[in-house]
Amino acid sequence: MTNQHGRNDLADKNIVTVFGGTGFVGRRIVSRLVDKGIDVRAVSRHPRKNKLDNRADQRPFQQIEADILDPSSIAAAVAGSRAVVNAVSLYVERGKETFERVHVEAAAALATAARDAGVERFIQISGIGSDSKSRSNYIRARGRGEDVVKTAFPGAVIVRPAVMAGPDDAFITTIVRLVRLLPIYPLFGEGGTRLQPVHVEDVAEAVSRLASGQNTTGALIFECAGPRIYSYRELVQEVATQLKARVRLVPVPFAVWSLLATAAEFLPAAPLTRNQVDLMRRDNVAASDLPGLEELGIQPRGIEEVVHMIAHEA
Ligand SMILES: NC(=O)c1ccc[n+]([C@@H]2O[C@H](COP(=O)([O-])OP(=O)(O)OC[C@H]3O[C@@H](n4cnc5c(N)ncnc54)[C@H](OP(=O)(O)O)[C@@H]3O)[C@@H](O)[C@H]2O)c1
Repeated sequence: MTNQHGRNDLADKNIVTVFGGTGFVGRRIVSRLVDKGIDVRAVSRHPRKNKLDNRADQRPFQQIEADILDPSSIAAAVAGSRAVVNAVSLYVERGKETFERVHVEAAAALATAARDAGVERFIQISGIGSDSKSRSNYIRARGRGEDVVKTAFPGAVIVRPAVMAGPDDAFITTIVRLVRLLPIYPLFGEGGTRLQPVHVEDVAEAVSRLASGQNTTGALIFECAGPRIYSYRELVQEVATQLKARVRLVPVPFAVWSLLATAAEFLPAAPLTRNQVDLMRRDNVAASDLPGLEELGIQPRGIEEVVHMIAHEA
């Protein structure tokens, strides 16, 4: 497709399409891109239910409906994009929505559709700890998802965030609720799992820089983590201190958590999932030999402010 100036039509477009653009990190990626003056298309299955506000002082963005599991809808959604971001999540398998279908097959289909549409950049949001050889279905699917995306879209960039914290997060908010509710706090195992929580806004900024072509490193994998490593026990203690709550931390074996999570997944909005338990079994910190936020020019901020905010508002 060539225009009257002899240039490729798609090259004239500067749309970044964000699949999962209404999600916890996705909507912040959309907002960061809009702030940079970039044309954005936010894609999700329920755009009317989760309507993002166009701000009067900014250029408007598109919000459209598509299902990553439906090949015809993804082809239409990526058309005319310069970059595509996959920020779709699946934390609990239900019916046709399996980890394999969403995190592997659909990720590959989206990357393939993007390549076929002449998209220049593809960013796959994965997670620290993704491992195609893991025994955990979830962690294995995330690792395999990275592999298939790299094959389908050579040059695709993989972004692996640590657990993300933000005012409306699930992770810190759950700890706050439990600390408030329970005199005895059940830890995952001994509570020694090391975590490096990252501010969700920092991850959104990193992805927006990658999507808008600001990757001067040439690296294809980024692990995005915060400035401080906590044990899970320390994190709960930090929340309890903020809440001025006295709580007794009690170790609970992982096998018990797995059983609880299996039962909890039958509830409509599962308060605990097996993938969370699987992820808590091992340390979740950034690899020292992979680039991260700093290499993208972002100074990671601590999560103390988020903990404070949630503790005083939740
Ligand atoms: N949250 C964390 O702490 C964390 C940490 C590390 C990595 N990650 C990864 O970051 C990514 C985003 O996570 P998140 O927590 O921001 O997710 P989220 O809040 O659950 O948002 C998911 C987004 O994907 C959309 N979506 C879900 N299924 C879809 C489908 N079949 N087709 C099209 N859109 C679909 C959702 O909207 P609809 O439901 O309306 O479609 C929503 O916009 C995931 O890959 C996740 O594993 C998250």
